[in-house]
Amino acid sequence: MEYREFGKTGFKVSVIGMGTYYDPSYIILARLLRLHRRKALKIAALRKGIELGINLIDTAEIYETEGIVAEAIKGFKRDELFIATKVWLTHLRYEKVLKAAENSLRRLGCSYIDLYQVHWPNPSIPVEETMRAMSRLVDEGKVRHIGVSNFSLEQFKKAQEALPKHELASNQVEYSLTVRRIEKDLLPYCEQNNVAILAYRPLAHGSLARVEGILAKAFQEVSLKHGGKTPAQIALNWLVNRSRVVFPIPRASRPERVVENAGAAGWRLDDADMARLTRAAGGQE
Ligand SMILES: NC(=O)c1ccc[n+]([C@@H]2O[C@H](COP(=O)([O-])OP(=O)(O)OC[C@H]3O[C@@H](n4cnc5c(N)ncnc54)[C@H](OP(=O)(O)O)[C@@H]3O)[C@@H](O)[C@H]2O)c1
Repeated sequence: MEYREFGKTGFKVSVIGMGTYYDPSYIILARLLRLHRRKALKIAALRKGIELGINLIDTAEIYETEGIVAEAIKGFKRDELFIATKVWLTHLRYEKVLKAAENSLRRLGCSYIDLYQVHWPNPSIPVEETMRAMSRLVDEGKVRHIGVSNFSLEQFKKAQEALPKHELASNQVEYSLTVRRIEKDLLPYCEQNNVAILAYRPLAHGSLARVEGILAKAFQEVSLKHGGKTPAQIALNWLVNRSRVVFPIPRASRPERVVENAGAAGWRLDDADMARLTRAAGGQE
């Protein structure tokens, strides 16, 4: 596995992480019936990833997967893992943030969270109030680093201003070969300021693992040049190669897919491949 420093945290994080959001029906069944569909397979997939050196796992209180992460990390060295979770947007009042963090810690079976992220901005709650609680969690040692998710550049800067004692480590946003909105302003800012980007939906919901048409042709050419890399590996390598601050977090529910995704690290697309793929995806280089 290949590792990079995660923003300014000093922590070496695997360039490929693992996401754990399944789908709304999974969440509903888990919440109403305490039924976690295909739980053993999901745990096996996460454990396989950790065995392969992936140390970044992303979850959230809303996903109903913190318990799965807790089981998956059992027996591994806690201090080598980078566990990221999120507080939901209805829990952004001061007391609610503190309570949500306690609940996440309990479900994760951990004494601290490496990265605690505000899942979505909530304009009806002052970000200063949320960040006061986040700051307290760091001071108490319950959270190592604070992050946000789905924050625009302007919202990110405002959140940082509300945190005089700590620096925001990351912003988790959608980013893939086919969805590149963040390249306009957020990504350049994060590169200049060494803020990590957790790239969600890095496989565009799986569609980049089964490419068609012009894109398939470009993927095939690149694959031939690099010893038969799969579309998922190429799409993830494109992200890792695109910027040193980007950490894709593909979700994979089966061990063999995690093995495949881990194989997106440790090699490099060259400039010509990057340009070829970007053009085929309909974007500017
Ligand atoms: N912050 C936010 O608001 C937000 C929003 C969305 C997602 N996220 C995070 O980002 C993570 C990833 O996003 P996502 O799950 O929506 O999309 P994604 O990772 O782009 O795509 C997931 C889909 O790709 C499939 N897949 C994964 N690896 C594959 C492979 N090697 N070959 C073929 N198919 C493969 C998965 O199948 P199986 O799972 O069936 O194996 C799943 O159907 C989430 O799990 C979550 O942690 C965050």
